[in-house]
Amino acid sequence: MTKPEGGLPVAILVPADFNDHAVSRIDKAFRPVRIERADPALVTDEMRATVRGIASYAGISAAMIDALPNLEIIASFGVGYDSVDANHAAKRGVMVTNTPDVLTEEVADTAIGLLINTVRELYAAEKWLRDGDWAEKGNYRLSRLTLRGRSVGIFGMGRIGRAVARRIEAFGLPIAYHNRRRVEGLAYGYHATLKGLAEAVDTLICVAPGGAATERAINAEILSALGPNGVFINIGRGSTVDEAALAAALESGAIAAAGLDVFAEEPNVPRALLDAPNTSLLPHVGSASVHTRRAMADLCVDNLVSWFAERRPLTPVPETINIKARG
Ligand code: 8YV
Repeated sequence: MTKPEGGLPVAILVPADFNDHAVSRIDKAFRPVRIERADPALVTDEMRATVRGIASYAGISAAMIDALPNLEIIASFGVGYDSVDANHAAKRGVMVTNTPDVLTEEVADTAIGLLINTVRELYAAEKWLRDGDWAEKGNYRLSRLTLRGRSVGIFGMGRIGRAVARRIEAFGLPIAYHNRRRVEGLAYGYHATLKGLAEAVDTLICVAPGGAATERAINAEILSALGPNGVFINIGRGSTVDEAALAAALESGAIAAAGLDVFAEEPNVPRALLDAPNTSLLPHVGSASVHTRRAMADLCVDNLVSWFAERRPLTPVPETINIKARG
């Protein structure tokens, strides 16, 4: 259907490395056009003339959108789409879709794993065993921290935030949250400010989206409000954290420990965070299982198929929800 008989199949630009399953589906239903990175300088006249869709992990800037006059849809791979200029896309009448829901439980699982790893030092304890220290030197030291007696604050009470909260409930720990707005029907304590939340809890889990509204929201003031027994976990976006302030807070004891899956300049991780003894660091693996990435790939490509076959998206982002298909 998207490879019309007699006509050319729809050209979909696929920047950089992309999910293999998504590429094979795009190859069947469309004509993939590979490009090294999402850079307007690499857009050829042929791409300008033919590309009607983009499937991408990568950020898509306003300039990239402007470089493709026939662009109709950007199918972004992932729930967070802070690296896509969705406001500009909306102005240009370009649809943007993301991949919500299918990764919610996986990311929440990762958040809990990271929390326990950070608090109970499981990585260091396993290393102790593997390095032969258990047999040679004796038991691994008692972890300084515990989940027992903690109270948990969730920054960002969207779908993933709620899935994290459901898991924390099973641990018997009290939960509070900060979100742009109070979430109707939720019994957890709501704090209108992030500082108020940080003051009220000793364990802060960031699940907030990236972008201008949350840029460096986790700063020295918030970390000091969390306090010396504080544990900070980030599964959202690195841009939400002032990483220099976090490294300083870990060093000075302003907070006790941090577990991070995301960083401001991925894949680069600041030396100070790597060297800190009280961090647990993961290479952005929140949703990274074969099962979940396949589901994300399917939803990413299903959005393209639905757009070109039925002229409607499946999971549009709020900024472009009112964009109508042309023609
Ligand atoms: C992926 C993510 O790492 O969905 C998101 O917003 O951050 C992750 O699930 C990302 O989509 C891969 O590019």
